[in-house]
Amino acid sequence: MQQNTYIYTFKHDKTETALCQLESKYLFNQPIKNQLLFSKLKIAPSSSAFIKKRIDVFLYSKNYEILIDEVKKQNIFAEGFKVEYVVLKGDSTPYKIRLNKLRDIGYRIEGNPDYYNPTITYALCYYEEIWYFGILIKNNFNWHQHKQKPYSYSNSISIHIAKALVNIAAAGNKKRSMLDACCGAGTILLEACFAGYKMEGCDINWKLCRDARKNLTHFNYTSTIYRSDIRDLYRTYDAVIVDLPYNLLSKATDNDIAYIIASVAAITDRMVIVSTADIAIVISNIGFKLLDYCSVPKRGKISFARKIWVCEKER
Ligand SMILES: C[S@@+](CC[C@H](N)C(=O)[O-])C[C@H]1O[C@@H](n2cnc3c(N)ncnc32)[C@H](O)[C@@H]1O
Repeated sequence: MQQNTYIYTFKHDKTETALCQLESKYLFNQPIKNQLLFSKLKIAPSSSAFIKKRIDVFLYSKNYEILIDEVKKQNIFAEGFKVEYVVLKGDSTPYKIRLNKLRDIGYRIEGNPDYYNPTITYALCYYEEIWYFGILIKNNFNWHQHKQKPYSYSNSISIHIAKALVNIAAAGNKKRSMLDACCGAGTILLEACFAGYKMEGCDINWKLCRDARKNLTHFNYTSTIYRSDIRDLYRTYDAVIVDLPYNLLSKATDNDIAYIIASVAAITDRMVIVSTADIAIVISNIGFKLLDYCSVPKRGKISFARKIWVCEKER
């Protein structure tokens, strides 16, 4: 293992396994194994619904005694610090021994600990016969506040899916210009703004545009929302998310779906589409290549699933 290694831990509902793996593929360029991954990439845990913790590793050793000696040699001074033991898959260290190890580390850090309101949290963990020590960054779940957005819409996508769509579309690149082509009440835009991505919105329905704008303003986010049929939007984007209309509230025929997708294809080379139907043929008809696909069943509703399609223009 080299310097600047980050250990990420993941947690998700079983209906979200495929989506979590898809997000990881585009964010980290690697799959999650044993609910964790090691990466050189530094991603804010709160930008994903599935990343639980990130450990910024700065010491590691096969030998625990050597590791704690190394901690001492670092001469760490931290007023109000805390040390947490992060249990990773395969670590069967009993609880009492884990507590003793936390004490070992605590005695090697200068400053008074603060368990309840720490200024910094250190982590100790053990994985595949190596001990790791580093700084622990947790998902702060502040994005849960978006559940209380002033204007909601019954066709809105779940926050978990919204966050994953943003990460898949941007592939972690904050500079990418992105559009939510059918933004509804702005669920996806809220997550993009929260994570610091550049995304605009578009919707044909003026009331939903107004609601999305009010939702963004409520959380002090800024973005541009175009009240427009997507076929009349002529700006171009690095990536576009399309949460296609479905059911009675925002119904669409097969023709509507085909023209929405064709209109988006005219303004971007990269699309992440959400549908309830199989749209593989529509994607190939517009000259796009399907890169990835996954299905996300709705919790508690076996018969309803959202299909996620990642595709790029054929070159
Ligand atoms: C499934 S909803 C999107 C929900 C949204 N993602 C949210 O979480 O609130 C589909 C949206 O597509 C919009 N829509 C339908 N046809 C459109 C078109 N031709 N151009 C732009 N938006 C369109 C509808 O008004 C509806 O808001």
